[in-house]
Amino acid sequence: MRIYCEKDYDAMSRRAANIMAAEVIRKPDCVLGLATGSTPVGAYKQLAVMCRQGDVSFKEVRTVNLDEYKGLAPTHDQSYRYFMNNNLFNHVDIDPANTSVPSGLAEDAEAECAAYDKLVESLGYADLQLLGIGNNGHIGFNEPDSSFTKETHVVDLTESTIAANARFFESANEVPRQALTMGIGGIMAARKILLIANGTGKADALYNTVCGPITPECPASILQLHGNVVIVGDEASLGKVIAAGVPVCK
Ligand code: PGA
Repeated sequence: MRIYCEKDYDAMSRRAANIMAAEVIRKPDCVLGLATGSTPVGAYKQLAVMCRQGDVSFKEVRTVNLDEYKGLAPTHDQSYRYFMNNNLFNHVDIDPANTSVPSGLAEDAEAECAAYDKLVESLGYADLQLLGIGNNGHIGFNEPDSSFTKETHVVDLTESTIAANARFFESANEVPRQALTMGIGGIMAARKILLIANGTGKADALYNTVCGPITPECPASILQLHGNVVIVGDEASLGKVIAAGVPVCK
């Protein structure tokens, strides 16, 4: 793992955007695996600026998102499809037809999951998979559990995730209780993984990811088995990793 420690959220976002833009410049028709949440918002803003300035083009890029809340329509302002349109796709020159997010409204969610795996496989998996990380170590919505789930699946969100995401809704009661998420297999099949994190709330999760045992209790710890992982965090999120003596790039 290569770990970059940046001084704050802005610097983390710029570093992440530069790594993503480099991938698109290297391979204009690359497949980007994308993530939602508050962490990637700054990186997406940077990519929009780079695109506007003509430094990078998404015309041939295909994207696959990690997850979607079960039951939310794409037009719901807390759906991840809405988030992606609003935070990235509407601000770059990507063809909307080349963007994929699991459908939260599929009548048969299991069939939707199976179809999503087929789609990701047909695209040849992600060249670069962007990941945030939950306070509890989740990636996508792969929550702490007694085993890893390989395929895209319907997951019951943990109380910790519901509490963490309540800030985006009127109240915790409004947070959907289930989501569709790409599984660990789809994530690990990406050729390169870029995990970003900021704030002290992520310090334990990052410590467990980098220094802890590989266990489904901290789903992100599986990344220790991937040969091409870059972590970009701010000083607050990487505090415990650095204190443990793990070398980081500044
Ligand atoms: P956040 O979520 O970026 O809103 O902190 C990250 C995640 O849950 O994966």
